[in-house]
Amino acid sequence: MTAPVLEVHLSDSDAADALQHDVRVGLSADPKWLPPKWFYDARGSELFEEITTLPEYYPTRTERELLRRSAEQIAARAAVDTLVELGSGSSEKTRLLLDALAATGSLQRYVPLDVSESALRGAMAAVAREYPALAVHGVVGDFTEHLELLPPSQGGRRLVAFLGGTIGNLLPVERARFFAAVRAALDPGELMLLGAGLVTDPAVMVPAYDDAAGVTAEFNRNVLWVLNRELEGDFDVDAFDHVAVWNAPHGRIEMWLRARHAMTVRLPAVGMTVHYADGEQMRTEISVKFLRTELEAELADAGFADQTCWTDCNDRFALVLAEAA
Ligand code: SAH
Ligand code: AVI
Repeated sequence: MTAPVLEVHLSDSDAADALQHDVRVGLSADPKWLPPKWFYDARGSELFEEITTLPEYYPTRTERELLRRSAEQIAARAAVDTLVELGSGSSEKTRLLLDALAATGSLQRYVPLDVSESALRGAMAAVAREYPALAVHGVVGDFTEHLELLPPSQGGRRLVAFLGGTIGNLLPVERARFFAAVRAALDPGELMLLGAGLVTDPAVMVPAYDDAAGVTAEFNRNVLWVLNRELEGDFDVDAFDHVAVWNAPHGRIEMWLRARHAMTVRLPAVGMTVHYADGEQMRTEISVKFLRTELEAELADAGFADQTCWTDCNDRFALVLAEAA
């Protein structure tokens, strides 16, 4: 087994600057908002893993079944020597792809990229142990900024996987930029595998983001603990309620935090004093659910051709394999 290599493109000071910037912009906006990537400190990554096991949270198990069904066809499509995974988290479902790609005999390298160093380290150690013949090259980075830093092809093709429906957490403008950046990072004939949530019944979608056990509520509030720790903030975390709604015109689930009473929060590290009115809501995440045809059209516009799509029998989730044209 070769020791896994970890490249860090987000130093603590880069991350601190980025957080300060996002907090200055987001908490002075009306309505207030924060980008969802700040959920994922070590505790946030653990809470996300717990979410994936909840009965209400169908996306993970649905995508796992789609991967089980499609992995051999994906592996047969091209002799892939590198699997890159963006927002890889625990890399749990990735095993299905690694098994199928390894069985073809061409896979040599796995490159997981994530902002969460703790999740990445845990996943890399486990994958390196389970796949001793594979070179594991982790990257701590931001997939909206660091795609040009992905390791080049080693002669064979690369497959970039972006699973879990994380594409839905980007705003439309960020999504278009992201697809263009993935396309630019690939050579013609290289592949992207995208997992995305589809529009389905709100009675199914909303509980997935508002579970009975309250794990998603804790995940949502975790961002306030992150702000308290990183920016010396004094948020009273328990004074915020978790809110999850389906925004039909925008085709997205939104998570918000609602202040239980009027309050003033100090964030000395950014020199801000932030006021919340009684009942004021702050948006912490969007999770876009797609129409399959629109998703395929966006990929085509970004320069991805020869698309193959797998969906589950309830049409709740799609896996799209597309080739850089
Ligand atoms: N792909 C896994 C994990 C999804 S959770 C799955 O399908 O289960 C979303 C993951 O993306 C988390 O691990 C989080 O740390 C990571 N992430 C969120 N925003 C990111 C960003 N801007 N750049 C890199 N990773 C990000
Ligand atoms: C990571 N991402 C795709 C999850 C989602 O479903 O949007 C994050 C999440 N938020 C609440 N529950 C899960």
